[in-house]
Amino acid sequence: MLTDSLHTLIPKLPAGLLYGGDYNPEQWPEAVWLEDARLMQAAGVNFISLGIFSWAKLEPEPGRYDFAWLDRVIDLLWSHQISLCLATATASPPAWFARLHPEGLAVGRAGDRFTHGSRQHYCPNSVAYRQASVRLITQLAQRYGRHPAVALWHINNELGCHINACYCDVCAAEFRHWLRRRYGSLEALNAAWGTAFWSQIYGDWSEIQLPNRTPTLGNPTQCLDHQRFVSDGLRAILLAETAAIRAVVPEAKITTNGVFTMKPADYRDWFQHCDVAALDCYPDPTLGLVEVRASALCNDHYRCFKDGLPFILMEQVTSQVNWRATNVLKQPGQMRALSYAALAHGADGIMFFQWRASRAGAEKFHGALLPHAGPDTRVHREVVQLGRELRSLTAIAGARTPARVALLQSWENHWALELPSKPATFDYGRTLAEFHTPLWNRNIALDVVSPDAPLTRYDVVIAPVLYVISPKQADSLRAFVAGGGTLLLTYFSGIVDEHEHIQLGGYPALLKDVLGLVVEEWQPLPPGASNGLRLLTSAPEAPAVPCHFFSEVVHPRGAEVLATFTKDFLAGQPALTRHRFGSGEAYYLATQPDAACLENWLADLLASRGITAPIQAAYGVEVCLRQGTEQEFLFVINHQSDPAPVNYGAWTGSADLLSPGTPVAATEELPGLAVRLLCRPRNK
Ligand code: GAL
Ligand code: ZN
Repeated sequence: MLTDSLHTLIPKLPAGLLYGGDYNPEQWPEAVWLEDARLMQAAGVNFISLGIFSWAKLEPEPGRYDFAWLDRVIDLLWSHQISLCLATATASPPAWFARLHPEGLAVGRAGDRFTHGSRQHYCPNSVAYRQASVRLITQLAQRYGRHPAVALWHINNELGCHINACYCDVCAAEFRHWLRRRYGSLEALNAAWGTAFWSQIYGDWSEIQLPNRTPTLGNPTQCLDHQRFVSDGLRAILLAETAAIRAVVPEAKITTNGVFTMKPADYRDWFQHCDVAALDCYPDPTLGLVEVRASALCNDHYRCFKDGLPFILMEQVTSQVNWRATNVLKQPGQMRALSYAALAHGADGIMFFQWRASRAGAEKFHGALLPHAGPDTRVHREVVQLGRELRSLTAIAGARTPARVALLQSWENHWALELPSKPATFDYGRTLAEFHTPLWNRNIALDVVSPDAPLTRYDVVIAPVLYVISPKQADSLRAFVAGGGTLLLTYFSGIVDEHEHIQLGGYPALLKDVLGLVVEEWQPLPPGASNGLRLLTSAPEAPAVPCHFFSEVVHPRGAEVLATFTKDFLAGQPALTRHRFGSGEAYYLATQPDAACLENWLADLLASRGITAPIQAAYGVEVCLRQGTEQEFLFVINHQSDPAPVNYGAWTGSADLLSPGTPVAATEELPGLAVRLLCRPRNK
């Protein structure tokens, strides 16, 4: 239901916005815990992810549990009004697990087994790991499942982040089972995998291996199925851990933390099984706005995983990480700005890794809410300030993000597009960013949804390199355009079916009627090479716009040509077309134009449909709207360090929740990294 808030779905959550982080008390003597709880409370922390790496302390020997210390931590936190996202504690099995079940450790491509001494070293399909996890989780659920502090369960940790595919015999057997379930018969598998090619035909299930070392290109459908299998296998851990909790506490609420939009995990699918989506996001501060935009795109994914339901930013860092070559600090004020950016895109929880900076271990140089030097530090002061602010912003919780534009993305497309032996080397993430950037730069809200999602709620759908289009997806796109929608489809779309077999008869096979054209062949442009694109509406003396990466031979079959190529044998041929279909329009872009040209053209297209930014602001100032039932909120965030002009337009005179009592003027120079959070009654 569109009006659900996290609090109605997960009743034990603390009121308002969630604020806190991972807490690893087992790294500290008990004497420190009371100070932790007091400082958390003083910082406005109301939610803690507890016990993510506690397995070895909770079960020092197989079957011998020690919960007394965790009892004390939980009661201490709860007595300081801190609720919990209690971990299943399965992310890092104890040393005894490796000793007793060496077969439960993951195996690399070369057949080498991982060892104990880091984390996440288990084989995702190991029966011993699954059984030991379920035993531990059952105990945890029995002991804490009905504790008033335990609002949510944190399943495992970043499933598949370090090891997603394992190459052990158990995984090979599991892959064969998965294939049997998918195809039913070897005939169907042989047909789907196109094994007539290079004499790859299988006559017995036991002949099928995990895709690994091959002299040259492997079977692409086998590789694609392996990616599906990997995502499903990791999801099986999520489901098994959830089932173990719910066997004891049927009403338990769960989540797991996704890593950005990690390729091996189809998070859109996974989060259907969770009560709330949760994201770990670590933008690289050296990359400036590029990474701010990347985080925004990530946030837009997570908000849409649960149909607009607010998500939790489960992990970010206050200051600096420890795992890049050079770990640059977030500027003073930047942690706050990026936290508000997540809220602006639909988060209702702002969390961090981790509460107290470690003294020992591999992450001792990772930033925290409480740095090594203690509470009297710049970072902790910023933490306390943000906590205080968030406690006052309860009205935002549950507010939704209205978007009239959808950007289509799918993991299936990602996996298939980036398989080797294509006309060019595709980077789906980069291409999505190239189409997201113009909208972010212009502060136009967008949803990131699957090509299988209902599209008719949007006015404009942008589908970059939608290489895989199923008949059902083609029908949905056709109905969307026929019903009055505007579609922008790009080069190298609609090429294959779900088995990655070519759709014959010219591309994009299933949508030629909608686009009013057929693509006959393509000319990839190597790095550094370009063609030119000339809009037919531009003055004849205007220079052509450079375009890169890809170009295609397009034959209009009813489509109107809006731009042509200027060079080589493609000169004068269509580069951009428009086709009226039913009550809507379908645009086709046969190349990747220069970023500025794409941005201007898209902004004009959207403006012609009345889709514009809520207010005018300089480049680098992010503006996002969230709507509650009674009020609406406008986030205005200057991500640059220099002041930038903002014109508040229709929002002039609205209250700024972050500077109570001072309504905003019509215009201002918004200081670097400053945030305004305007509020007004809805339907004003
Ligand atoms: C995450 C992980 C945390 C911590 C953090 C450091 O990937 O979930 O446990 O390692 O990275 O940035
Ligand atoms: Zn394995």
